[in-house]
Amino acid sequence: MQDNKRKIKKPLRESVMTLKESLKVKLKNVLDPELINQLPSRYPLLGPAILIRLKDNLIPFKETIGEAILEIHKKAKSVWLFRKPAKGIFREPKIECIAGDCNPIIFHKELKTKFIIDISKLIFSPGNAGERQRLVNIIGENETVMDLFACCGNLSLPIAVNKNIKRLIAVEANSYAFSFLLMNIKLNKVNHIVSPYLLDNHYWSTFNIADHVLLGFLPAPDIYQVEIGVRALKDSGGILHYHWISEEDRYREELKNLVGYVESLSREVKVLEIRRIKSVAPKKIHFVARLHVRK
Ligand SMILES: C[S@@+](CC[C@H](N)C(=O)[O-])C[C@H]1O[C@@H](n2cnc3c(N)ncnc32)[C@H](O)[C@@H]1O
Repeated sequence: MQDNKRKIKKPLRESVMTLKESLKVKLKNVLDPELINQLPSRYPLLGPAILIRLKDNLIPFKETIGEAILEIHKKAKSVWLFRKPAKGIFREPKIECIAGDCNPIIFHKELKTKFIIDISKLIFSPGNAGERQRLVNIIGENETVMDLFACCGNLSLPIAVNKNIKRLIAVEANSYAFSFLLMNIKLNKVNHIVSPYLLDNHYWSTFNIADHVLLGFLPAPDIYQVEIGVRALKDSGGILHYHWISEEDRYREELKNLVGYVESLSREVKVLEIRRIKSVAPKKIHFVARLHVRK
C-alpha cells in the first residue's frame, strides 16, 4: 500500500512565490507589515479567474488586494474570494468577486479538456488538479468508469478526453451542474463515450459493470453511496476511488472502518493507495483511498 505522506501537490499553473512577492512590494505602502505577512501564498488560476482565501483581518482590504493582483498577473481578468467553505449536498461555493470582470461563467482548459464553469455556483477545485492528472494516468484503455458525483465533469471528463476508455457513466443530482456537464461533454466531443444521468446517486443501481468508481464528494460519501459504488464494480475486480476529509491521527482508523464495511458486502479488499490531495483547513486533509475490490 502506498501512502504519500507530506506530498500535497500545488495546483497546476500557480506561480506562488513570484506573485506573492510582487504583491508584497506593491502593497508595502498600503498595508501594515503585519498584514503584508498574512497575504496568501496561493493564487491558483482557473481560466481567467484567480481564486484566493484571505485571513479575516485582510478582508477590509480585499478590493485593494484584488486590484493589485490583477495589475501583476497579466493573464488574470478577475479575482474571487472564498468566503466560507462549501456546504450542503450540492457543495455550492461561497465566493465573491473582488476585482476585474465579475462574469462567473469562465472557460478553463486543463489536460486538453475544455470546461465551461460557473465558479459562483459550482466547485472546481484547483487543488484537485494533481488528482485529475493521476486519474488520467491510472485509468487504462477500454475500461468503464463511473463517476457518481460528476458535477460539470471535473474529475472524469479529462479521462474521457485523454484515454481511449470504453464508457464513462456520469451521475449528477444538481440540474444546474448537470447542464454544465452536458455543455462540457459536447464541447469536448465525447458524446459517444459519456453517458450522463441527472439523478440522485442513491437511486442508481447497476451491478458488475465498472472498472473504476469515483466517489469524489466531501466531507465523505455516505455508506449507501459506498455500497452502490461497490456493487457497480466488476465482480472480477475494480477500483473504488474514495475521497474524504480527515485528520492525521484519524484517517487510518476511518480507512480501516471503510475496508471493514466493504468486506461486509462480501468483497475482498486490498488498499492500493492512500493519497493526501490537499489541506482544507488547519489539520484537515482531503484524502483519496484507492481500494481494489473483488467479489
Ligand atoms: C464538489 S462536487 C465534486 C466534483 C468532483 N467529483 C470532484 O471531486 O472534483 C460534488 C458534486 O456531487 C454532486 N452530488 C452531491 N450529492 C449527490 C448525489 N446524491 N447524487 C449525485 N450527485 C450528487 C453535487 O451536486 C456536486 O456537483
